[in-house]
Parts: sequence; C-alpha cells; structure tokens
Amino acid sequence: MTATLTKPEYEIKDIALAPQGKKRIEWAGREMPVLRQIQERFAKEKPLAGIRLVACCHVTTETAHLAIALKNAGADAILIASNPLSTQDDVAASLVVDYGIPVFAFKGEDNATYHRHVQIALDHRPNIIIDDGSDVTATLIKERQDQISEIIGTTEETTTGIVRLMAMFRDGVLTFPAVNVNDADTKHFFDNRYGTGQSTLDGVVRATNILLAGKNIVVAGYGWCGKGVAMRAKGMGANVIVTEINPTRAIEAVMDGFRVMPMAEAAPQGDIFITVTGNKHVIRPEHFDVMKDGAMVCNSGHFDLEIDLTSLGATATEVREARNFTQEYKLPSGKSVIVLGEGRLINLAAAEGHPSAVMDMSFANQAMACEYLVKNKGNLEPGIHSIPVEVDQEIARLKLAAMGITIDSLTADQEEYINSWTVGT
Ligand code: ADE
Repeated sequence: MTATLTKPEYEIKDIALAPQGKKRIEWAGREMPVLRQIQERFAKEKPLAGIRLVACCHVTTETAHLAIALKNAGADAILIASNPLSTQDDVAASLVVDYGIPVFAFKGEDNATYHRHVQIALDHRPNIIIDDGSDVTATLIKERQDQISEIIGTTEETTTGIVRLMAMFRDGVLTFPAVNVNDADTKHFFDNRYGTGQSTLDGVVRATNILLAGKNIVVAGYGWCGKGVAMRAKGMGANVIVTEINPTRAIEAVMDGFRVMPMAEAAPQGDIFITVTGNKHVIRPEHFDVMKDGAMVCNSGHFDLEIDLTSLGATATEVREARNFTQEYKLPSGKSVIVLGEGRLINLAAAEGHPSAVMDMSFANQAMACEYLVKNKGNLEPGIHSIPVEVDQEIARLKLAAMGITIDSLTADQEEYINSWTVGT
C-alpha cells in the first residue's frame, strides 16, 4: 500500500529509513493475526469514519499495525511517542511514507520535544485518545479544558496510566469515559507477563551481553510485569530475589519459589536490579551505597523515576558510557554502579519492546476499545470502563484460532449444572 499525506506534517529522524521500516512492519504482521483481521474488517466497515484520533504509543513495528487499523477504520489519526527513547525511527519513516500516517517522534528526543509533541497531538483536536501512561489525557485536563467537549473518550494501555486515571477520577477531573485496556485478560495476562518478561531480559542482554545464569537478579515489584520478569529470569538460570510492598504479592512470590526481602537487604546481594513497581525511587542512595562494585540497575516500569538517578548523578565522581545504553557511574567509594537505558523502559530503549505475538492482543483491545467508544458515544458515564467481556473473549477466540488450537465447549448438561444452585452434596 502506498499513500501520500494531504498535509505533509510530521517530525521524524530520517525519511530515508522508510524501506527498512516497511520490511520490519511487514515482518511483525506475521505474528499479529488478530489485529490483521481487525484491519481487514475496519477497512470494510469504517467504524471510525470522521473521528480525529491521537495515539500516544511506543512507535514500534507493532504500533504501526495498530495505526494502520485506525487509518483503515476511517480515523484521521496521528501518532506521537509515549517515551523519548522507544521510537523505532525506520518505523516512523515508513508510517509517513508508505501508509500516510503523520508521526511526531524520534528516538532520543529530549523531554521538551516530547512535551511539544504532546501539544501537537492536542492541536489535532482529538475525539479519541489512545494513551500509554496517560500523558496526553493528563495534559488535556490540565491545559485544554476547552477541548473536553470534543472528546468521546480515551483508552489506556498501562497499569501506570490506569492508576493515574483513577486519581483523576477521584479528583473529579475525569469528566469523560476512559476504557481500561490494561485490565482486559487478553492484555495483561500476556503483554504484562510474557511480553515484559521476555523483552526486559532481551533489553538487559542487548545492552550488556552478559550471562544471566548464576547471577543474582533482584526484581522490584511482583505485579504482572514483575511476575513475568522473575519467571523468565529464573528460567535463564538466575537466582531471583523479589522485593514488594504488598503482603499478598509477597506471599505469591515466596510460593512461586523466590526469596523475598526488603531492598536494603537485597541491595548488597544483587548483580542486576530490575524495577517494575510503577512507583518512584525504589532504588535510592542508601541502596547504591551498599551495592557490589559493577552492580547493574535498570527499569522496566513505565516512567524513569523508579531509580533515583538524580541522586546517583549528584554523588558520582564520573559518568561514562561503557557501551550503548550502558552508563557507568563511579562513586566516591571507588565502586561503580552501572545504569542501563538511562533508567527508561529497558525493553524499549535497548531492545524492541514486547514481541508482536502479545502486542497482537493488546492492540486488538485498543482498536476494539475505540470502536466501542464510538458505538456507545453519549451513553457511557464519565469514569473508567472495563473492556466488555465479550470483546475480551472474542480476541482470545481469534488468537486461539490463529494458533490452530481448538478447545472443548460445555455440553448442554454441563451448561445447566454450572448455571444452577440446586445440586450440591
Ligand atoms: N509496549 C511494550 N512493548 C511494545 C511494543 N512492542 N510496541 C508498542 N508498545 C509496547
């Protein structure tokens, strides 16, 4: 497919990268059968005709397929990055050149540019926002109250974004519907767990080329992402320590076979630290001080504040780039702490993010959430809405079918039994 932009407005690193991006987008498509079917259906049914839409996502080969689905659906869609380090520049170029989708994103953009792109997104006057971390929605509420009447709704991809939306709702400022894509079963069971699990270790290995077997890996946070990282690290032969603040999750981690302890105790033992908590300053000066020489720290949570890099930078006597995405901070004690991917999402900074096969389901949810918002325009209360269970299960059915797996269904007798209460002991 070739297309031209009517308004050639975009901001990307290098348009000449488009041919490589196109090949990589097509490659990812092989593992995204559910989203491909949605693309085809949307092209026929045009469920988003006339809708102005902003997608704030990591600009990857997988997001490209979401953007194509939105365009096929008839949306006037533009794409900005949800993280300064996650953009794949060849993908951004191909989206502009080959698919006619305006992109405002390049890898390594500074914070000021990132925020300028959020403003460009809002200048598009969206009816729907697809958000990954809630930055566009939060900026809309803080700075563009006059545009809220044009909003049909927003959809959110991450646990971090949902936590922010809940805070907005509590504060009475979320005055339109938001669809919680993160909590769909076909999203977090796979994306957060298997996606983050594999891609985080991929990022660590690409940044460092170290052996994981035999290392002490400290995983901070045992939500779905932490579970995935811990499970995959164990599978690679690492000794995994989990830190948590939630007592139930801590028991889960213990019963899953991990050692659980406070960060202060884990800090002198770890070789590699991976934060996936969604909170700030999980690793801070008192922890850096007692780490082994050469301990590596990285983050796979949404924002780059899980590791207190400001304090680390302030005490360091020297900071040098040891490899791409690998910075060595020399401490006054003579020991070094090594920071991977500037403390930003390591799986997207140093690797390519979650594999396409899981993003297939996440982005199927995003695409169908947009369709749901349009179909139910005016009928949804302000606040946070789950993805309807029928949509979630339809995505699971399509995925299973594409995997060539069939499953049992209830017999009539079982159906009756499971829906009755009269039969007991
Ligand atoms: N978030 C995590 N992995 C991703 C990917 N591959 N594409 C878009 N968003 C992501």
